[in-house]
Amino acid sequence: MSETAVITGASSGVGKSLAIQLSDAGYKVVLAARSEDKLNAIAEEIQKKGGSCRVVPTDVSQPEQINTLKNEALEYGDISLVINNAGFGKFCKIEEATLEDWNSQMDVNLRASFLVSQAFIPGMKQRSKGILVFMNSVAGKKGYPYSAAYVASKYGMRGLADSLREELREDNIKVISIHPGAVDTPFWDGAGVNFPREEMLDTATLAQSIVHTIQSPGNFTVEELVVRRTAGDF
Ligand SMILES: NC(=O)c1ccc[n+]([C@@H]2O[C@H](COP(=O)([O-])OP(=O)(O)OC[C@H]3O[C@@H](n4cnc5c(N)ncnc54)[C@H](OP(=O)(O)O)[C@@H]3O)[C@@H](O)[C@H]2O)c1
Repeated sequence: MSETAVITGASSGVGKSLAIQLSDAGYKVVLAARSEDKLNAIAEEIQKKGGSCRVVPTDVSQPEQINTLKNEALEYGDISLVINNAGFGKFCKIEEATLEDWNSQMDVNLRASFLVSQAFIPGMKQRSKGILVFMNSVAGKKGYPYSAAYVASKYGMRGLADSLREELREDNIKVISIHPGAVDTPFWDGAGVNFPREEMLDTATLAQSIVHTIQSPGNFTVEELVVRRTAGDF
């Protein structure tokens, strides 16, 4: 019987590549993000190749929508893999960062990772099996200028993942943090940063590394995966 995965931020970039590759690897996938049209297009691509998926339009900054995601996903299958991937960054000088910028990055990058994980942990505990993936960043390990709220949200996400990993060891739940450097996705559209997009990591190769990491067999867990381009940060 195939395993079922929930992927937040599945409409674009890393999440989209992961959804397609996890489906190729045999997972049933639940696709969550706000852009229903983009999710439907990805669902069509997956189904054309014989994969199974369910689209659940979700704004993860809204806890009641995470609750709907939980109900729809659990109706679709036992969730054995959760990818906390939805996220965004707003880059500016600290004097220009608004309370709304701070709150929205915390709500989407950090709070939603807590709520989405919490929604599916009871089922994993019941089956003594599961994998929680946190799409972090090199910004969860090192501070960068003009990125205070984003970096703080990703450090928080690392703390959340590290704590859950310790708490859930006895339940055989693997907790994996992924820390990529810059990836060529719409994340950078309008970010006001002039890094050359063609020199960034590409989503397909990154997703391949993540799927390989998730598939570590038996009692093997790659707890953290740090992926940078060979030349280092921009
Ligand atoms: N690109 C990079 O250089 C890079 C590097 C390290 C880590 N990351 C991390 O990788 C993750 C994916 O980013 P990406 O690069 O693939 O960017 P992306 O192409 O902009 O994708 C971001 C995804 O998050 C979703 N999202 C944003 N706000 C949401 C909300 N309120 N509710 C539900 N979904 C929401 C978006 O979907 P909708 O807009 O449809 O809601 C989209 O699917 C993020 O957590 C990011 O921090 C990115």
